[in-house]
Amino acid sequence: PSGRLWGGRFAGGAAEAMFALSKSTQFDWRLARYDLAGSRAHASALRAAGLLTDDEHAGLTDALNRLDRAVTAGEFQPAPTDEDVHGALERGLIELAGPELGGRLRAGRSRNDQIATLLRLYLRDAMREVAAGIRQVVEALHEQARTNLGAIMPGRTHLQSAQPVLLSHHLLAHAWPLLRDAERIRDLDRRLDVSPYGSAALAGTSLGLDPELVAHDLGFGSSVPNSIDGTAARDLAAEAAFVCAQLGVDLSRLSEDVIIWCTHEFGFAVLDDAWSTGSSIMPQKKNPDVAELARGKAGRLIGNLSGLLATLKGLPLAYNRDLQEDKEPIFDSIDQLLILLPAMAGMVGTLRFDTARMAELAPKGFSLATDVADWLVRQRVPFAEAHEISGAAVRYCEQRGIELSDLTPDQLTEISPRLSPEVLDVLTIEGSVNSRNGRGGTATEQVERQLSELLDKITEI
Ligand code: ARG
Repeated sequence: PSGRLWGGRFAGGAAEAMFALSKSTQFDWRLARYDLAGSRAHASALRAAGLLTDDEHAGLTDALNRLDRAVTAGEFQPAPTDEDVHGALERGLIELAGPELGGRLRAGRSRNDQIATLLRLYLRDAMREVAAGIRQVVEALHEQARTNLGAIMPGRTHLQSAQPVLLSHHLLAHAWPLLRDAERIRDLDRRLDVSPYGSAALAGTSLGLDPELVAHDLGFGSSVPNSIDGTAARDLAAEAAFVCAQLGVDLSRLSEDVIIWCTHEFGFAVLDDAWSTGSSIMPQKKNPDVAELARGKAGRLIGNLSGLLATLKGLPLAYNRDLQEDKEPIFDSIDQLLILLPAMAGMVGTLRFDTARMAELAPKGFSLATDVADWLVRQRVPFAEAHEISGAAVRYCEQRGIELSDLTPDQLTEISPRLSPEVLDVLTIEGSVNSRNGRGGTATEQVERQLSELLDKITEI
């Protein structure tokens, strides 16, 4: 057996460079065990259709099981002459079962419906692993948020001081998008629950095989309603690539915060030794490489998504060989994330926060100016006017190099008669934080509620 699944109408063998271009075992071999599962299910469908006797079915199943064990043990490997995972495994089957029996299995199926099915089986398993990795990061964020509850930090917009917020609130703001990525995986999982097996090359099979039987054998809920779509569609692969890319972006944004927090100038957090690296020349350095690799890999994950979409765009129905290009980007995105997620969880879980420094910086940059305006609104001043008065107070302080909380009662009246000394009561970071007590707000009570809401969701990942 040659490991090539065609040849009858060809006078000679493929040119060497043609074969080198065509060959995919170097990356599709990871689908071998799914291919064997598909073959077992297909053998059952052939028996159910009366195309295999019980004995033949038993013989084929036995050979497939033996081949499966040899694959798992690494004893059976693709040969240099095998074109793809399907060809390699058929060669292996024929070696074990002989050409008479082994050659019967291919009836009524095509590599087109096989590969489409294998990819879905793989994506289901692999994306669930990614979800488990997401869970680790979300748990690390939750734990940090729980143990640091009460710590106040400068909240920023445009990277400029905005309003004081709880550190826990900020940490949880990174957890929710990750949770949504996990939800996206669950949602994708439902769409992946449909088997293309039985679509054959594109038109379905004339041999009376039951695609639903194969689907259920393989653990799918149903089989595809359209065999052309079953072999030609790769939107689910693209969707997986999108979820990976979005996850990469979410991890990258978290990483960027960590990188900034760990600068000397910010000094909000310190990386654990186990999750940082040194410099070969500068002895003082402690570099946030985990975070930087996450940020870098996000670019790669986006590239995998856009590359795959570009491959798909403009492809006529049904199967085209271009579709073989779907696997490497998807495999790469998933491989990268499975390396990255545990490291992210480790880095996040071991970050140490300088909460005293954060609290000290929290009221700086006039971050309580909104509290002044809100206080005026509670004194029945229209917000537009309140905004003006608070802005004037900021300008007043800026010119004198003082903070809002340094203002004396006289200075307050000088800025505006509306500003009575009671306004100073709201000029504390604790008061500011705890006054934002609506659902989703930064008040301790709300963040506590968020912690338990998130905890419930984590168990659903
Ligand atoms: N290796 C191909 C792929 O990954 C499947 C083989 C289909 N080949 C074909 N000539 N129809 O998509």
